[in-house]
Amino acid sequence: MPRCPRDDEHHPDGRCGISGSGCAALGVPGPGSRPDQCHGRGWSGHRARHGEAIPNSAEEANLNAIAMSDRATPAAPARTAAVIPAAGRGIRLGPGAPKALRALSGTPMLVHAVRAMAASRAVSLVVVVAPPEGAAEVRSLLDEFPLGERTEVLVVPGGATRQESVRLGLAALPDDVTAVLVHDAARPLVPVDTVDAVAAAVRDGAPAVVPALPLADTVKQVEPREDGPEPVVATPDRALLRAVQTPQGFDRATLQEAHDKTVFDGEGATDDAGMVERLGVEVVVVPGHEEAFKVTRPLDLVLAEAVLARRRANDGF
Ligand code: C5P
Repeated sequence: MPRCPRDDEHHPDGRCGISGSGCAALGVPGPGSRPDQCHGRGWSGHRARHGEAIPNSAEEANLNAIAMSDRATPAAPARTAAVIPAAGRGIRLGPGAPKALRALSGTPMLVHAVRAMAASRAVSLVVVVAPPEGAAEVRSLLDEFPLGERTEVLVVPGGATRQESVRLGLAALPDDVTAVLVHDAARPLVPVDTVDAVAAAVRDGAPAVVPALPLADTVKQVEPREDGPEPVVATPDRALLRAVQTPQGFDRATLQEAHDKTVFDGEGATDDAGMVERLGVEVVVVPGHEEAFKVTRPLDLVLAEAVLARRRANDGF
């Protein structure tokens, strides 16, 4: 039995007689008022690995937790930010302004997307990743459509691919952000309930969350050919497939690791969750929403206008 270094305080049963929240209160030997000052306990009894103390037993782990809570300042509250990649040119939409700046019912698509993120009480910061040459224009555009005081909006220049744009958005996040939603500007009409569901799943401990819907169409895998009909090589079971939307939600450190480790290649990754999957980290699905569709082709603009008209008719949006 280790002894208390002050013999006058050492009880025959091995306990230190010094009172307080430390050794005596914990019923272990040692002189101190903190559990780490107890013999064979706390940090002094640890094996160290990667600079971290490793408890020798479950009991010791509990003591350490008490010790840490004694001395640690209260943890900063977790903060969720949304990163909106909006630097795409939108070539498939036809000629005109960059896609994110095209109007839906008189309001730029990007503004709809920023509002959709800011509508979630979970989100207190939105980082917009703008076309590299258009960051100043995007900043002044967003200033024309102010949000409530609760939400801060940063604008940073984007890159040549979506993957690079998201990476640049992540680099702009302040240290206190622990969870990140990545949302395509091209999905301007995602309902707040979908945003909330993704944010809640991340806060509940999922490292990566995607909203998704079952498919209406059957999907074929083909061997791509430019000079004739493409042979079908497989027909995946439709019941096992999901069409994935955004916002995709992540524990920040996990998403950062995925971006750090994914080699930048060609067009880059089009899906952040896919990069996390390659780390071997589980990605989970929550229900998506039909109004979270991506505006890609001219017909999608017609559909988006129809959704906004229906919202106006239904709830005066
Ligand atoms: O091209 P795609 O529709 O997949 O783009 C998805 C989202 O990624 C869009 O919001 C687009 O603005 C954004 N993007 C980007 N930087 C790029 C290319 C696309 O932020 N270089």
